[in-house]
Amino acid sequence: MTTNSPKALSPTDQQSRALRDTLGQFATGVTVVTTRDAAGQPVGMTVNSFNSVSLEPPLILWSIDKQSLSYDAFTTQPHFAVHILKADQQHVSNLFAGRGADKFGQVHWHTGADGVPRLDDCAALFHCRLAQCVDGGDHTILLGEVLEFSASGGEPLIFHRGRYRTLAGD
Ligand SMILES: Cc1cc2nc3c(=O)[nH]c(=O)nc-3n(C[C@H](O)[C@H](O)[C@H](O)COP(=O)(O)O)c2cc1C
Repeated sequence: MTTNSPKALSPTDQQSRALRDTLGQFATGVTVVTTRDAAGQPVGMTVNSFNSVSLEPPLILWSIDKQSLSYDAFTTQPHFAVHILKADQQHVSNLFAGRGADKFGQVHWHTGADGVPRLDDCAALFHCRLAQCVDGGDHTILLGEVLEFSASGGEPLIFHRGRYRTLAGD
């Protein structure tokens, strides 16, 4: 007999959803990370696992899902750029959260240092050398040495409990 009722979540699925929901209590900014693939095509993805690590030497980190289509590019290419998005760049975040889509046809960008694509009009930029890849379960943690950085300021885009938000003000 067949039934159309939705499949019940397994205890493991329920636990990982609960963990994801609980992790979502942590408010973050939103970044887009870019590089080029081995063929020289620009690649990029939306990332909120970005964080600071060290000032001396200057290090940042983020983690990439091993299933990501951009995985090979980010874990093998020597340089990448991290762009911190502004509050009015929710559409950029959604665009770069698309899987393998033509992301660069719909934003303003130019080629920066070491050939890495740079998105225009972001709150801040970090140009990095890939310093180390560390295994992290279903993700890989990328450590980047900051070679160049700049900030134009503006209100940041915030991600919290699965939703975009903006700062309410001081
Ligand atoms: C707000 C937000 C934050 C995200 N953070 C990450 C992240 O830190 N690491 C990651 O691997 N994917 C993250 N993603 C999901 C990727 O952006 C998404 O899987 C994207 O499709 C990957 O692109 P690709 O498969 O073309 O490489 C995030 C998505 C959103 C909307």
